[in-house]
Amino acid sequence: MEFMDVIKLRKSTRSYASDDIEDDKIERMLHCARLSPSWENKQCWHFLVIKEKKTLDALSRTTFINRWIKNTPVLIVACGNPKKSDSRDGMDYFLVDVAIALEYLVLVATDMGVGTCWIGSFNEQKIKDILDIPQYIRVIALTPVGYPAKTTTFKEKAIKMITSSNQRKDIAKITHYEKW
Ligand SMILES: Cc1cc2nc3c(=O)[nH]c(=O)nc-3n(C[C@H](O)[C@H](O)[C@H](O)COP(=O)(O)O)c2cc1C
Repeated sequence: MEFMDVIKLRKSTRSYASDDIEDDKIERMLHCARLSPSWENKQCWHFLVIKEKKTLDALSRTTFINRWIKNTPVLIVACGNPKKSDSRDGMDYFLVDVAIALEYLVLVATDMGVGTCWIGSFNEQKIKDILDIPQYIRVIALTPVGYPAKTTTFKEKAIKMITSSNQRKDIAKITHYEKW
C-alpha cells in the first residue's frame, strides 16, 4: 500500500471479526515497532501479546468504556520502563518513546489490513496484577489487533459520533510559521 494511503486508511477499529491473526503478521508489527526512534536509543518499550480468552476477558474488566476489547483475537499491551528513558523539565520521554513505537505498530497493521485502536482508558494497577507486570513499569496503552468486522456495532458508531472521529482541525489552526 502507498504510505499516504496507510495514513489515510488508519482508523480506530472497535468491531472485530473472530478470525485469528497470523503469527507472522504480529511478528512483523513488533519488528517494525522496534525500529522506531527513542530517547538516546534506549528503547524503553515492552509489548505483551495476549491471545488467551480468559486473560482477554480479565483485561476487558479493567475498563468500563472499553469492555468491548474482550472480542478481539489479540490484545497488545504497550509498556514503558521509565528507568530506561529520561525526563526534561518534568516531561517524561518514556511516554513519547512508547507512543511512537506503538504508532509504528498501528501503521504496519493498517498496511496489512489489520485493525487496531489506541486504548488509554483502563485501570493500570489491575492490568499489572493480571499480567504480572513489575511495579516500576508503566502501562501506556493497549490496542486490540484483529481483522475488522464486516459490520460495525452500535457502540462503535456512537463513539465515532461522540468523538467526531472523522474530523480534524484545520491546518491553519494548528500550524505556526516562524513564531506562535
Ligand atoms: C492516547 C489515546 C487514547 C485513546 N483512548 C481510547 C479509548 O480508551 N477508547 C477508545 O475507544 N478510543 C480511544 N482512542 C481513540 C480515539 O478516540 C481516536 O483515535 C479518535 O477519536 C480519532 O479517531 P480515529 O482513530 O478513527 O481517526 C484513543 C486515542 C489515543 C491517541
